[in-house]
Amino acid sequence: MLKLKIAILPGDGVGPEVTLEALRILRAVDEITHVDLRVQECYVGGAAIKKFGTPLPAETLDACLKSDAVLLGAVGGPEFDKLPPEQRPETGLLKLRQALGGFANLRPVTSHPAIADCSALRPDLAANADVLIVRELLGGIYFGEPRGFTNDEHTAAVDTMRYSEREIERVARVAFDIARKRRRKVTSVDKANVLHTSRLWRSTVDRVARDYPEIKLQHVYVDACAMQLISAPASFDVILTENMFGDILSDEAAAIVGSLGMLPSATIGGEVDLYEPVHGSAPDIAGKGIANPLGAIGAAALLLRHTAGLESEALAIELAIRKVLEAGYRTADLNRGTGRQLVTTYEMGGLVERAFMDAAETRHAYHAV
Ligand code: IPM
Ligand code: MG
Repeated sequence: MLKLKIAILPGDGVGPEVTLEALRILRAVDEITHVDLRVQECYVGGAAIKKFGTPLPAETLDACLKSDAVLLGAVGGPEFDKLPPEQRPETGLLKLRQALGGFANLRPVTSHPAIADCSALRPDLAANADVLIVRELLGGIYFGEPRGFTNDEHTAAVDTMRYSEREIERVARVAFDIARKRRRKVTSVDKANVLHTSRLWRSTVDRVARDYPEIKLQHVYVDACAMQLISAPASFDVILTENMFGDILSDEAAAIVGSLGMLPSATIGGEVDLYEPVHGSAPDIAGKGIANPLGAIGAAALLLRHTAGLESEALAIELAIRKVLEAGYRTADLNRGTGRQLVTTYEMGGLVERAFMDAAETRHAYHAV
């Protein structure tokens, strides 16, 4: 029997609400497939600062490193805005990412016909968009040294964008490997007309591409990519890019679907895989039970796919999400005054769970015949 040990880090804002629903679907999977789910809940981000005075307590890190995967909600909030960067909730997340070692952050963005009216784009543009952003997660300006204020008056500051060939090559291989199973196109995004790191990025990606002759590779500058992502999203398959460009482009890509609350992410390639919704802690709606749990539930599906190797269960969850949306149910972020069935975070989780269980029972009955 498979054993699945997961550390759940609800974090801040809407994090606890949405991870609860993601956990619920994992428990449903356990009921059907018997993955022997073991869950340990730990503090991270602002919640950890309040309880332990640090955004990534040693016991949290320890529990994560002993798990098969980590499922994280969100970190951050306005009450921590005054803290210096190294003490902020976000630093806890960045340290966790570093410690777990996952360098390839996968952010799938798929348009849902049932919520086409939520897209910021014209329906004909958003239709059929199915993009996978592969964001390098452990390098670039997020971690490069030196960083910080350069004088005592704090009137000047520096951040460093740094990449090595090795860091670029390993994430490029992830992107090309995945493209093989998709539509075989990789768009590598950089700013090679200005940045040295981007020139290294481009030449390294070109070298890796020689091992993948069946994949069509295209290089695009990040500014042009930002425009094309909005004007022709369906033209992309896999987007491969560095840490900060990927951060920005993935939020932009959410406008194709219509809500950040819809997007899941998976971070793979290291010691322990990390799963998070792309959205933040959304403090303005936290605690109201109205946050969209579908990004977090989608992250649970990615966990089953990439860490547990349970592709059919992952697909079944993604299908259940589609079914519930097609039936007209929506959380507040998707409410466009269209008279659809408005539901809470908890109700949405329940609907997806029900759809998943119903489909499983149908499958079961079919096999029994
Ligand atoms: C994301 C977030 C994080 C990032 C923040 C919370 C540090 O924006 O996962 O996209 O910048 O990576
Ligand atoms: Mg971001």
